[in-house]
Amino acid sequence: MNRIVHGDNLNVLRKMKSGSVELIYIDPPFNTGKRQARKQMKTVRDEAGDRIGFGGQRYRTEVLKVQAGGTGYGDQFGDFLGFLRPRMEAAYRVLSPTGSFFFHIDYREVHYCKVMLDEIFGRECFQNEIIWAYDYGARSKKRWPAKHDNILWYTKDAERYTFNLEECDRIPYMAPGLVGAKKAARGKTPTDVWWHTIVSPTGKEKTGYATQKPLGVLERIVKIHSNPGEKVLDFFAGSGTTGEAAAKHGRSFVMVDESEDAIRVMKQRLANWLGHRRIKR
Ligand SMILES: C[S@@+](CC[C@H](N)C(=O)[O-])C[C@H]1O[C@@H](n2cnc3c(N)ncnc32)[C@H](O)[C@@H]1O
Repeated sequence: MNRIVHGDNLNVLRKMKSGSVELIYIDPPFNTGKRQARKQMKTVRDEAGDRIGFGGQRYRTEVLKVQAGGTGYGDQFGDFLGFLRPRMEAAYRVLSPTGSFFFHIDYREVHYCKVMLDEIFGRECFQNEIIWAYDYGARSKKRWPAKHDNILWYTKDAERYTFNLEECDRIPYMAPGLVGAKKAARGKTPTDVWWHTIVSPTGKEKTGYATQKPLGVLERIVKIHSNPGEKVLDFFAGSGTTGEAAAKHGRSFVMVDESEDAIRVMKQRLANWLGHRRIKR
């Protein structure tokens, strides 16, 4: 049964049955120290602009409006690991014996989080650090622009877990001339570096929720790391990207968030896969 749950995820996790979920993906606040809020942007032609568009024209990006309150949330923790640890321990408990856990973070905190997750899951159960690489937004002139996030993959059992590589979408070869025409046409499976564009600020995937992650990234995780009919949990669910990926591929979902905005966005986004009485408070 698909469910959206409104509340602090620690309370929700504590009520869930041990070993009841096959796949967990979470994308907690990154401890950026900023308030995450929806921005309305406009691109304007400007000879001195930092972006180059069609035909080599230069553009700059102007922020028209930052929506205060609305779809924003605070992203600053005095003790980030102290906040995360009890939630990660609870996640470990609810994960099934052959389940997978995906933790999405960025360069500011990934090293601290990995040490903590090694302690909870065991170093032997760390499987991969996936780098989600994108290329969008301002480019620093003082250091290399950071254009990637880190997704840590842990399993409950070091050897027994789901990995449906044959379900994976394929990507083009970098040098198709070096492989035969048949291979080049088929493409190859990705490595632990996933190039995928961010959610386009003007595209139809966009819900308006700050920090919404791309559906394509979540679909890959859901299809390869779970089987149809299994349960997928996201307890920092935001706009419900994980729920949409799960439902599209025949998995059930449990989406948890403490923000009313997130619940409102998810109710709308996941309406096709929800009965009215399945939104708990
Ligand atoms: C980075 S966003 C998730 C975005 C999501 N992956 C998406 O694609 O839209 C983090 C979310 O965690 C939620 N959150 C933060 N602390 C929470 C808590 N203690 N319990 C439940 N949700 C929480 C915030 O409200 C926010 O929606």
